[in-house]
Amino acid sequence: MRFGGLTAVRSVDFTVNSGEIVGLIGPNGAGKTTFFNCLTGLYVPTEGTVSYKGTVLPPKPHLVTKAGIARTFQNIRLFANMTVLENVLVGRHTRTKEGLWSALLRGPGFKKAEKASEERAMELLEFIGLAHKRDHLARNLPYGEQRKLEIARALASEPGLLLLDEPTAGMNPQETRATEELVFAIRDKGIAVLVIEHDMRFIFNLCDRVAVLVQGEKLVEGTSDVVQADERVVAAYLGEPFEATPEDTQPATEAESTTSTKGEAQ
Ligand SMILES: Nc1ncnc2c1ncn2[C@@H]1O[C@H](COP(=O)(O)OP(=O)(O)OP(=O)(O)O)[C@@H](O)[C@H]1O
Ligand SMILES: [Mg+2]
Repeated sequence: MRFGGLTAVRSVDFTVNSGEIVGLIGPNGAGKTTFFNCLTGLYVPTEGTVSYKGTVLPPKPHLVTKAGIARTFQNIRLFANMTVLENVLVGRHTRTKEGLWSALLRGPGFKKAEKASEERAMELLEFIGLAHKRDHLARNLPYGEQRKLEIARALASEPGLLLLDEPTAGMNPQETRATEELVFAIRDKGIAVLVIEHDMRFIFNLCDRVAVLVQGEKLVEGTSDVVQADERVVAAYLGEPFEATPEDTQPATEAESTTSTKGEAQ
């Protein structure tokens, strides 16, 4: 994926098996989000294709969702003036077969499908712990709950692969821990999870494997231990070793990272 003279993501192969959590880390501007945008059809790659389970995906978001890939966004994208339940129902539309006429005429088929959709949406709200807020407007939820609601909306399309772009950004430690539990629970449902995050503790606790993207290319991929011990990763995140000055009483901030990718998600 190129933007003018900048290659944001270059030839990144990726395998995420069902029931597995894989982390995608790398400095700011590494191409992590661009990779997700290519996978989900928001960007059309300058060259190359995206395939999922051996099938090339057309770069159209609704077709990608239909094929089984769902995502959340780095900057929360909810329908602010819709209720919590309605936001999840929106996520289900690629899975409902009822067409426009059926919806307009509100025949028995439509009503039945609508009821089933609502039941499934409520199940998902229970799963994320927001069932009691079904009728609240999304914009009135605290930030951490908005992030959870985005995950529920993504799950509503019944994905085989879930892409999470910085799911704990802006969360307090307690909310981050709860998100960790939620991602484990999603994994336990047999869904493949690919997660971008700058919080290294979160990533290394959570992930079976971690890939590091730097300037659009995959630098290293391996288990948490292997990646943490890799000198190139330390250099990419923290730059040159620095000596603390007396004013520098704060511990070194948690690593930030860059990432990029293109390729196959399965
Ligand atoms: N639509 C666009 N037009 C031009 N350049 C873009 C566009 N989208 C991303 N880029 C550039 O591509 C590079 C990768 O950006 P990207 O947002 O993918 O990084 P990231 O790894 O997600 O970073 P962060 O950790 O800060 O979210 C950056 O240099 C960015 O400025
Ligand atoms: Mg990003």
